[in-house]
Amino acid sequence: MSKILLINGSPKEKGCTFTALNELAMTVEKHNVETELVHIGNKPVAGCIACKKCVTTGKCIINDKVNEIIEKLDSYDGIVVGSPVYFGGPNGQLLSFLDRLFYTSSNRMAGKLGASIVSCRRGGATAAFDRLNKYFTISSMVVVGSQYWNQVHGNSPEEVRRDEEGLQTIRTLGQNMVWLLQSIEAGRKSGVEFPRYEKRLRTDFIRQ
Ligand SMILES: Cc1cc2nc3c(=O)[nH]c(=O)nc-3n(C[C@H](O)[C@H](O)[C@H](O)COP(=O)(O)O)c2cc1C
Repeated sequence: MSKILLINGSPKEKGCTFTALNELAMTVEKHNVETELVHIGNKPVAGCIACKKCVTTGKCIINDKVNEIIEKLDSYDGIVVGSPVYFGGPNGQLLSFLDRLFYTSSNRMAGKLGASIVSCRRGGATAAFDRLNKYFTISSMVVVGSQYWNQVHGNSPEEVRRDEEGLQTIRTLGQNMVWLLQSIEAGRKSGVEFPRYEKRLRTDFIRQ
């Protein structure tokens, strides 16, 4: 059975972001796709300190929920990141969390589905959405789209539940994720090979 990790990046455990993630969970679970929800919590989240220890150890030197996800990473076929919009971007704790998660394990994300969902009262949704998708598109993940950018509007779960188009967008995203997971599985069974990537180049812009 396929499994999708849902990361609730809001400090609020059962707020608007959760309401949208829950809509997605209900949609995919109807099609036998399992979900696991991780709430990053409402305590300060440490940012990446650029120690690069993870390059050799494969885990983050700051031992928190980031490492719990890394330990189980191979069991997830997709990752959905949910964020409230703070000043036109994702909230700070979530970015700190994702910087460490993806710096440590970007090379283990290839081929997984990725999607972000943002919740805002009024504005800044697409900037936040674009910022979150950057994690997926630098990690050879398959970014899943919907009928609109994945955003819901509201200041409370009740308001989000009244955002009918927003929730429909989330359900469409869920349907697209299910279809892609089934397609990938069917491809694997019929012998479609995962890409054999070239040796990774890392250059900067200084010419020698
Ligand atoms: C610090 C802060 C900044 C916010 N900035 C924005 C913003 O730029 N645009 C917006 O529409 N809503 C903004 N909001 C409102 C939240 O994005 C909105 O209420 C969201 O749905 C909350 O989701 P949650 O319940 O999952 O935390 C802000 C809220 C906070 C606390």
